[in-house]
Amino acid sequence: MPESMKEVTVTTETDENKHRKNGLYRRVSTELAENMRRGWADTERRDVEPIAQAVHTARRRAALSARFPGETLVVPAGRPKVRANDTAYPFRPSSDYVYLSGDQSRDAVLVMEPERSGGHRAIAYLLPRSDRGNGEFWLDYHGELWDGRRDSLAENERRLGLPCRDVRTLAGRLGAVTGPVRLLRGHDAGVDDALASRVTAGDDAGFREFLSGMRLVKDAFEIADLRFACEATASGFEDVVRALGTTTPTPERLIEGTFRTRARVEGNDVGYASVCAAGSHATILHWVRNDGAAYPGDLLLLDAGVETRDLYTADVTRTLPVNGRFTPVQREVYEAVYAAQEAGIAAVGPGAAYRDFHEAAQRVLAEHLASWGLFGERSAQEAYELGLQRRWTLAGTGHMLGLDVHDCAKARTETYVDGTLQPGMVLTVEPGIYFQPDDLTVPERYRGIGVRIEDDILVTEDGNENLSACLPRQAEEVEAWMARLRG
Ligand code: GLY
Ligand code: MN
Ligand code: MN
Repeated sequence: MPESMKEVTVTTETDENKHRKNGLYRRVSTELAENMRRGWADTERRDVEPIAQAVHTARRRAALSARFPGETLVVPAGRPKVRANDTAYPFRPSSDYVYLSGDQSRDAVLVMEPERSGGHRAIAYLLPRSDRGNGEFWLDYHGELWDGRRDSLAENERRLGLPCRDVRTLAGRLGAVTGPVRLLRGHDAGVDDALASRVTAGDDAGFREFLSGMRLVKDAFEIADLRFACEATASGFEDVVRALGTTTPTPERLIEGTFRTRARVEGNDVGYASVCAAGSHATILHWVRNDGAAYPGDLLLLDAGVETRDLYTADVTRTLPVNGRFTPVQREVYEAVYAAQEAGIAAVGPGAAYRDFHEAAQRVLAEHLASWGLFGERSAQEAYELGLQRRWTLAGTGHMLGLDVHDCAKARTETYVDGTLQPGMVLTVEPGIYFQPDDLTVPERYRGIGVRIEDDILVTEDGNENLSACLPRQAEEVEAWMARLRG
């Protein structure tokens, strides 16, 4: 072997890709290694502006700091999950990391270090630009030559308004921490291991609960982003209506793909797996297999939301007649759900108990179910008190919405489900009726019909605002909207 073909040792950014078994290139000549070190322009950006939410992330960190004086707080973004070999699942950073930093980098960790003078100093530990000198930028399969340019630490400092450090120095830094530590576990196994002897499950649960609760009331940036998420989602629903009937039947996956195209073009992605449920699939709450097809005469229940580039998601459902016109029995069920949603939305306002909208909607559903004879001799009130409507209404009537579709899920029960609505909270109101096709307790004409209507409601100072009102809900308006879109 010529001297110049001997193997060159490279430093890699991550452990998992040090060696690519069965890669076609076995070794790197010293000439090539030397060649790859040189001839690259300086691409440092010196005109980076702070992100739009930097003032908000600073305020959020200040609120966190005030709650945990004297403690080191560690919030990892997480790492990409390997799918196979050097292929990863799409990466999305942890919502709490995004909330506190405004950043979306993989492998990143936000550390809030307590200061002697009080308060905390927040530092973002990030992957820096790939080193060209030691070859990692092209020899590591997550180097910038493969994955694309990263912002430098200096650029990130300007962008995020935070001091930034190389994440590869974090283990040493954490090893030197004294005093109490709280960690958001479950996102980064490396950080979890490094702090295993320093944290307790109880302290971490309290930390997670506080972070989740902080996110209950949205700030102006978040509300604007959720508004945009709803608008982009409405555009996606319009795309689906235009696509319905371009093939007969219309595959549910064509519907899924049509909506996702809009989500990828206008946002980051869908905020959760789209439910594209035609015919009796609409009676299955989590129908995401989407391997059926929508036939004229069927209903299509479409539950889908665009997640914006800042990672806030809408969560909207419309139940649409595939051929543009509800049949009488479909309309009968639809109007019951619509009436329940109207009652639910009317119960959303500052000072209302969180549960009020759910109870208002479920009462209306119980009345309709009673009027159809489904409770036998029992009154709607009696059936409601026994929860008998749940056989056909299945789920709770809504949830908080934000960075996660089921947002703030770990918040204290007293401030969420047993709490009081405040201006700035955003929640879904999504009553539904689901008559399973094999439910012998309902008249045959109802079997296989599923209807949900879901909107995203902002609590305002004097009531509420429906952020997804850009999509029609009332039956005749839905029909007119579909007719217009289909020309
Ligand atoms: N799409 C999930 C939900 O409606 O809760
Ligand atoms: Mn939904
Ligand atoms: Mn929902």
